[in-house]
Amino acid sequence: MKIAVLPGDGIGTEIVAEAVKVLKALDLKFELEEAKVGGAAYDAHGHPLPEATLTLAKESDAILFGAVGDWKYDKLDRPLRPEQAILGLRKALGLFANFRPAICYEQLTHASSLKPELVAGLDILIIRELTGDIYFGQPRGRRVAPDGHFPGAEEAFDTMRYTRPEIERIARVAFEAARQRGKRVTSVDKANVLETFQLWKDVVTDVHKDYADVALDHMYVDNAAMQLVKAPKKFDVLVTGNMFGDILSDEASMLTGSIGMLPSASLNDKKQGLYEPSHGSAPDIAGKGVANPLATILSTAMMLRFSLNQPEAADRIEAAVKKVLAQGLRTPDIHSQGTTKVGTRDMGEAVVKAL
Ligand code: NAI
Ligand code: MG
Repeated sequence: MKIAVLPGDGIGTEIVAEAVKVLKALDLKFELEEAKVGGAAYDAHGHPLPEATLTLAKESDAILFGAVGDWKYDKLDRPLRPEQAILGLRKALGLFANFRPAICYEQLTHASSLKPELVAGLDILIIRELTGDIYFGQPRGRRVAPDGHFPGAEEAFDTMRYTRPEIERIARVAFEAARQRGKRVTSVDKANVLETFQLWKDVVTDVHKDYADVALDHMYVDNAAMQLVKAPKKFDVLVTGNMFGDILSDEASMLTGSIGMLPSASLNDKKQGLYEPSHGSAPDIAGKGVANPLATILSTAMMLRFSLNQPEAADRIEAAVKKVLAQGLRTPDIHSQGTTKVGTRDMGEAVVKAL
């Protein structure tokens, strides 16, 4: 089993170091190979996704990814920005299905920004389409506005697009996942305004015919944003497009206590996957040793389950995380009165010990 380790920038290097310790503590035979990505790769090689990094990713069974990005790269041309590395990996490997489980651990019920009774026992799964939508749609660019409210003014534009097969395959992923869980799918769209999402709604409705055992409802994204903070436990599986999924999953992260708790898996049709925390490189806390490594550690559990066929090892990691939370250990983002504040490294090492 070969795992590509791509720490990236900012807190990426700090949190991935802890996840690697956890993987090594499992006593399974992995080949781990590290490469630079994002701003770190730009600094060393002049490109955020060098050919060697892409080749390593393609040849691996799974990729452990930290995070990329920093304000200091904001002035670079878009193709050279660190964020292009993660978009490029998703595209090159066809990682169209993004799983973002939002689970509120019992010990963190009070760390959530919502009332404890709203989040106690929360276990929902957001499935985000990851290789289409307005993030990849062409054409895009800048020009002189040919018409509209201000003809002749500077204008920027992006294109939202989805094809039927792209929607079909992500809908199947969602219905299959729901079959293993609460048997309910909520498809989130904006069909009242956007043609792209009218097609989305139509296709999801068509695919549902093959999954009579799963209940389906449709919800507009603005209402979904509201329902997520009003009554999040009413959801089971949410499936949505790339941009809505990006935004709703960050919102959902706060239900769990912190974005530092939210793992993710991005899979292609060969079960090859990229595993990363849902958060970014957090430049505001990078280098301080305080980032929460649990989202990354929990991402390795998803890796073991989805790509490496080691479900017992995945269970062991998740049990170890619960154990350190039960011991009262907390990084600052999830710290509350009566618990013990620890840094990134202590948290990682506590998980290793709990294993
Ligand atoms: P962010 O997710 O990096 O940070 C948002 C807030 O959450 C910050 O206050 C940060 O300190 C906190 N936070 C994030 N992860 C944390 C952790 N593990 N423990 C404790 N606190 C944590 O999002 P932001 O600030 O919008 O973006 C920063 C950079 O990251 C940008 O360059 C952005 O483009 C990039 N980014 C990269 C992603 C990726 O590599 N997949 C995803 C999202 C953003
Ligand atoms: Mg995001």
